[in-house]
Amino acid sequence: MPFQPATGYPLHRPRRLRGHPALRGMVAETRLAVDDLIYPLFVYHGKDLRREIPSMPGQYQLSLDRLGDEVAAAAELGIPAILLFGIPDHKDPRGSAALREDGIVQQAIGVASRAAPSMLVITDLCFCEYTDHGHCGPLAESRGRTDVDNDATLPLLAEQAVSHAQAGADVIAPSGMMDGMVQAIRRGLDGFGFLDVPILSYAVKYASAYYGPFREAAESAPSFGDRRSYQMDPANTDEALREAALDLAEGADMIMVKPALAYLDIIRRVKDEFRVPTAAYNVSGEYAMVKAAAARGWIDERRIVLETLTGMRRAGADMILTYHAPDVARWLRQG
Ligand code: PBG
Ligand code: ZN
Repeated sequence: MPFQPATGYPLHRPRRLRGHPALRGMVAETRLAVDDLIYPLFVYHGKDLRREIPSMPGQYQLSLDRLGDEVAAAAELGIPAILLFGIPDHKDPRGSAALREDGIVQQAIGVASRAAPSMLVITDLCFCEYTDHGHCGPLAESRGRTDVDNDATLPLLAEQAVSHAQAGADVIAPSGMMDGMVQAIRRGLDGFGFLDVPILSYAVKYASAYYGPFREAAESAPSFGDRRSYQMDPANTDEALREAALDLAEGADMIMVKPALAYLDIIRRVKDEFRVPTAAYNVSGEYAMVKAAAARGWIDERRIVLETLTGMRRAGADMILTYHAPDVARWLRQG
């Protein structure tokens, strides 16, 4: 019997590719892999401290003597990179504890590297954890408003970056949204011979309510006002492209969009426009919402997290900073 073209029923059946699990895997367009994850950690002075952060279940305030085990465990899970936040025991108007050779982050870099030599150690570079007023640089009065003094902050950021590099940081991640910060940091690093230390710039950082739990954890909530004079307005997207363009022109090697979940369109636009390594920060408030709902049994935590992070990768993120990193590493391993 000659070949009869089929008619009268659907010829095109996308479901054909969804039946067999192996085939589904082969046609998957986006992959979430442990190699793309960066795990943020909060380091404190003191001894034998591993205090759970109330609004971030499963995340801890760690003292230096407890940091090594945490980093080694992350490495054991295959997590390639950590992001260090330091909380000093002394705060002042200029955040001078951030610049000390024996500062909390400076010490933590060494502890982390010794605990897991293969770990990529990234340091968050800002002053809000170190200033007594909680803003991201020293303040100045200008036209009746008290605000962070942009240009006075730049040399301090450069100094802090050099101090992190001298302590052995692999990548510097400035998060303060000061104009010109990447250029100042690049010049500072280069001047001290750190030409090969890359900058991951928080280029596109919004003034977001999603940072709430972080500020509790890092004790970095501003004591007055907010950060809207330096962080971006959630209403804007063209401005995100201008911010990213400036940071790249100033020498940023990689750029970050933060937060991630409510800004997937921004990740996509930034990635399409610049085609540079792009990071998404799945921030503390995003983590807290998932944890709170999961604790009540309202959502399937594992599926929600994997789906959400896959969405960030699909939006264009090459790497994701996430507190879920250890869980994700375990889940991906289980398959
Ligand atoms: C500090 C900084 C913040 C976060 C990362 N670096 C807080 C802020 O800008 O207030 C937020 C991280 C998170 O919420 O998980 N500049
Ligand atoms: Zn800051």
